[in-house]
Amino acid sequence: MNTLHSIAQLRAALSRARQDGKRIGLVPTMGNLHAGHIALVEKARQRTDFVVVSIFVNPLQFAAGEDLDSYPRTLEADQRKLLDAGAHLVFAPNVNEMYPHGMQGHTRISVPVVSEGLCGASRPGHFEGVATVVSKLLNIVQPDLAVFGQKDFQQLAVIRKMAQDLCLPVQIMGEPTVRAEDGLALSSRNGYLSEAERQTAPVLYKTLQSIASEIQSGQRDYAALIERARQQLEIAGLRADYLDLRDATSLHPVTANTTDMVVLAAAYLGKTRLIDNLHFVIN
Ligand code: PAJ
Repeated sequence: MNTLHSIAQLRAALSRARQDGKRIGLVPTMGNLHAGHIALVEKARQRTDFVVVSIFVNPLQFAAGEDLDSYPRTLEADQRKLLDAGAHLVFAPNVNEMYPHGMQGHTRISVPVVSEGLCGASRPGHFEGVATVVSKLLNIVQPDLAVFGQKDFQQLAVIRKMAQDLCLPVQIMGEPTVRAEDGLALSSRNGYLSEAERQTAPVLYKTLQSIASEIQSGQRDYAALIERARQQLEIAGLRADYLDLRDATSLHPVTANTTDMVVLAAAYLGKTRLIDNLHFVIN
């Protein structure tokens, strides 16, 4: 398994793989890999013959004051995990390779509507940064399949919409969230949590589960339910940035007729911002 840092070297390696008739899979990441990322690599391995994993902490998707500088960069450990997982190639460009003329003035991909609200409201410019870098990675690698996690539910919706609207010749696949035993969604940002915060963190997923189960048992006063859940989070020591019920396909607010739902949350635990969601159906 090679690690390549330049687009030119990567393209040369990929053209050899393609000449050998291999189907190419891409798993874009920002590194500091955990079992959630590895599950995506395994899915790509099942569905394709040559799996590229990109590791790039993309400055364009971080707003000023966010954790760009402190974001964990652990390339060597990541390489070992990817070797064990059977990835074929790591693409780890630096910022200059991806943005040789700087980020100011760089072409941006903006995906309206689905990028608005939820994380888009509290992180202005975030999804434009994500869509721009993912479209670059898709153009660089030209994979047959690209695999993303449902943990970032809105991000997946943005990427699906971008691929559809721009007629990108790639299949986008979304994989279920991998969790710790206590339910906490694995995330590179969990490493920011103190021991005490780590004990509290599973409350977020438990709250989503209780919202889903109350709705599945017939509760229809969504506003009151969400408000109560928000208060429960506060009592546990989590400050909700948003806690919202949406249509799982469009991400529009739910109506009385919505049956395919997702409850999404972002919450601060100390300085750490955690996100999670739970997709469920009612009948
Ligand atoms: P990153 O946070 O490193 O996540 C890379 C991929 O892993 C994303 O598709 C994300 O949804 C998925 N993932 C993260 N935690 C997961 C978990 N617990 N279970 C399953 N999948 C999980 O998301 C990004 O990087 C970036 O925004 C990126 C798409 C790479 C663009 O820069």
